[in-house]
Amino acid sequence: MQKPDVRGFFDPDTATWTYVVYDGTGADKRCAIIDSVLDYDMASGRTKTRSADRVIDFVAAKELEVQWLLETHIHADHLTGADYIRSKLGGTIAISKHILRVLETWAPIFHNEADTPPDGQQFDYLFADDETFKVGPFDARIIHTPGHTPADTTYIIGDAVFVGDAMFLPDVGTGRCDFPGGSAGDSYESSRKLLGLKDNMRMYVGHDYPPEGAGRVPQCMATIAEQKAANIRVKDGISKEVYVAKRNADDKGKAVPRLLLPSIQVNLRAGGFGKATKGVRYIKIPVDVIG
Ligand SMILES: [Fe+2]
Repeated sequence: MQKPDVRGFFDPDTATWTYVVYDGTGADKRCAIIDSVLDYDMASGRTKTRSADRVIDFVAAKELEVQWLLETHIHADHLTGADYIRSKLGGTIAISKHILRVLETWAPIFHNEADTPPDGQQFDYLFADDETFKVGPFDARIIHTPGHTPADTTYIIGDAVFVGDAMFLPDVGTGRCDFPGGSAGDSYESSRKLLGLKDNMRMYVGHDYPPEGAGRVPQCMATIAEQKAANIRVKDGISKEVYVAKRNADDKGKAVPRLLLPSIQVNLRAGGFGKATKGVRYIKIPVDVIG
């Protein structure tokens, strides 16, 4: 099986992993960037590009060419840096066609239809389920892994599996399922689908939150075999009923993510801020709608 090089970048502010997937032999310069971050300070409304610039610097140092800017889902906890990175390095921003459902869900909340088209045309490309594609020399495909959101997508590039928030590392478990359109039952089915991949494949997660007392720093990868043996929520032997009951109980009353409202509206524009008013860009906050 093809083994692309994978470089992870951790953003400590949002616990997000961004990945660059590339040909380590240097023979093919094309790469994919998965789930990038645009830093955002809620209190001041100030964006910063520190996280994205680290990735840009890496791409430049390796003299890579950005072929794809892939999003695993519409993130609720950080703004995507895809639009910013594309403006610097080019590349095709792509996500699953299932985000049309996410657009539909949030349209009555933000009423941003004027600059957030409901047909998803703000993304350069929408993947169909099971679609195959290439990242440089590597065979790639997507699988639909809903649960955390209805649109979660896993990208499989060679032996590397980028699951976003469908699953986390073994001692963390899986992503919360209480966002609109989320489903613990779907999350279980998606996780089991992922655990059906080959044992030696490498699963890269979208976040890491080392549990208190775990005595480890944030990490990004576990093999399918390790996940099957040890994932605290979905390892082999845990039934769907048990999983769903515990997932739902644990999600009940969970706090709304700090950056939910800025993240969703910006990420539904593929990282854009929409129409400016006299040169000023705005984030819209619906009052008394969420939570
Ligand atoms: Fe997420």
